[in-house]
Amino acid sequence: MKDLLLVTDLDHTLVGDRPALARLNKTLETLRSRIALVYATGRSLAGARQLQQEEHLLEPDGWATGVGSTLLWRGQPDPLWDTMLGKHWHRPALKALLSHWSDLAMQPASEQTPYKLSYELTRPRQGKEAREFENHLRACLGQAGLQAQVVFSSGCQLDLLPPAAGKGPVTAHLQQKLGLRPDQVLCCGDSGNDRSMLAGPWWGLMVSNARPELVDWWQQARPDTLVRSHHPYAGAISHGLETLPLL
Ligand code: GLC
Ligand code: MG
Repeated sequence: MKDLLLVTDLDHTLVGDRPALARLNKTLETLRSRIALVYATGRSLAGARQLQQEEHLLEPDGWATGVGSTLLWRGQPDPLWDTMLGKHWHRPALKALLSHWSDLAMQPASEQTPYKLSYELTRPRQGKEAREFENHLRACLGQAGLQAQVVFSSGCQLDLLPPAAGKGPVTAHLQQKLGLRPDQVLCCGDSGNDRSMLAGPWWGLMVSNARPELVDWWQQARPDTLVRSHHPYAGAISHGLETLPLL
């Protein structure tokens, strides 16, 4: 039985400050038997494993890769998760619809999964322009009768995911699987694709180096359970573990 589910994004959250990461790894190692550790990343599993090697990341219990479109739990795919993702998901139809959009370029094949369709914007957009682009895209999907989550990150990355996918839904699924209460869950992130997990009914922690699209959203939504840390990268996670009523 675990006492805490710790779900963290990798790039610019767990990874970015090597001394701070080394300190956090030490803390996590001493608490390892009490914590279920999950890496939730936009990267593919191969890309995430490569980063694990380069940055000496601990071996986690779970890998939620491709923005929560794939879940590997203690080395095995989770069959229930895959069944949930298949509902209302019409990837070929979405791809055909977006093939006419000149502002979008497909990301490389390594970043595409059966449950993730990813593009780069040919021109980055921030703030109001980014929100308008997202709204326009959602309206087009609605008109075409297609369901998908639209996830916009770092001004230029766009992911379309099944309605049931994402870092927030994967956290909810794991919380249930482990039989933990929301106050036994901590999610940490820095960018747009972390929003769904930072908006959940559990503890959320936004690093001080968070991207503008996440800060914009936080300024409007201000969920009670979300902390905006004064610390960057892994230092924010260490500080959260020390100060939040978690363990
Ligand atoms: C990672 C993925 C990319 C995705 C982005 C934002 O960079 O490699 O496919 O679009 O995260 O979620
Ligand atoms: Mg990140």
